[in-house]
Amino acid sequence: MSAFREDVLSGRVALVTGGATGIGKEIARTLGLHGARVFICSRKVDRLEKSTAELRAEGIDCAWHRCDVRDPDSVSAAVENLLGRGHGLDIVVNNAAGNFPAPISRISPKGFRTVVDIDLLGTYNVSKIAVDAWLRDNGGSIVNISAPFEGKGAALQSHVAAAKAAVDSLTRTCAVEWGRHGIRVNGIAPGHVADTEGVARFTAAAGASGPERIPLGRVGVARDIANSVLFLSTEAASYISGQVWTVDGASSVDQIGMAGRLADMEANWPERES
Ligand code: COA
Repeated sequence: MSAFREDVLSGRVALVTGGATGIGKEIARTLGLHGARVFICSRKVDRLEKSTAELRAEGIDCAWHRCDVRDPDSVSAAVENLLGRGHGLDIVVNNAAGNFPAPISRISPKGFRTVVDIDLLGTYNVSKIAVDAWLRDNGGSIVNISAPFEGKGAALQSHVAAAKAAVDSLTRTCAVEWGRHGIRVNGIAPGHVADTEGVARFTAAAGASGPERIPLGRVGVARDIANSVLFLSTEAASYISGQVWTVDGASSVDQIGMAGRLADMEANWPERES
């Protein structure tokens, strides 16, 4: 059950990069179940075909185009395909990302650059091409998916953290430069989200971390991120731009890391002597 009317995005068109799997697929599903036509892109045709069939089976108007966000020609072809359908473009979700966990000592220059190219350059490519082709004349909403690393060190994630912090910076600048065209640009920075390829890889390398470390007491799910994108895509967010929202159950603001122990501590807290 959704907090939004099921037709809240009726008549809108959404482009979701990396939309065939994981969080991107859930974003496409959620926008689609609220009336948007969705267009998903990724590098792997088999995944695109499978996910499109699944989303269509749920009644969603879904199409796909193979696209590598690192390659501007590939992105242009995808946007042309989308606009050729004659329904315009209202919502761009830059979700495609590359990730592998490794200490800095084990990342080659090419490995580091690969992640920066997918996450940062990819977000720039898709945003710029979508704006030039349509949004500049018609307005719209762009949501960039990043990660809550800004201001912190992120062991095994140097390349990702650097790229995502840069994406957050790009989010703010795009919001400033494109605001006059009626384009809102925001970011969502998900914390630990269950059942995603990125978290599975990180857990395999660094071990599992349970919900006890999360102040809200549970690990996030893809739906949490998709609902945040849904909100930012509706009129309810019409004056919100240039913001990056961390969606992580308050993990990143738990400076002392005490959330999991608080219940016991409070129960056993000594009575104050008067
Ligand atoms: N440790 C260290 N380096 C790694 C690595 C790892 N686990 N995985 C990839 N690399 C390096 C490669 O070695 C290569 O550098 P090199 O030639 O100097 O050795 C470089 O990264 C590019 O790898 P390649 O596999 O050729 O590029 P790609 O574009 O096919 O792969 C990645 C993209 C790197 C993001 C890959 O991890 C991937 O496809 N991941 C799946 C998608 C994903 O990350 N999903 C989760 C998103 S949060």
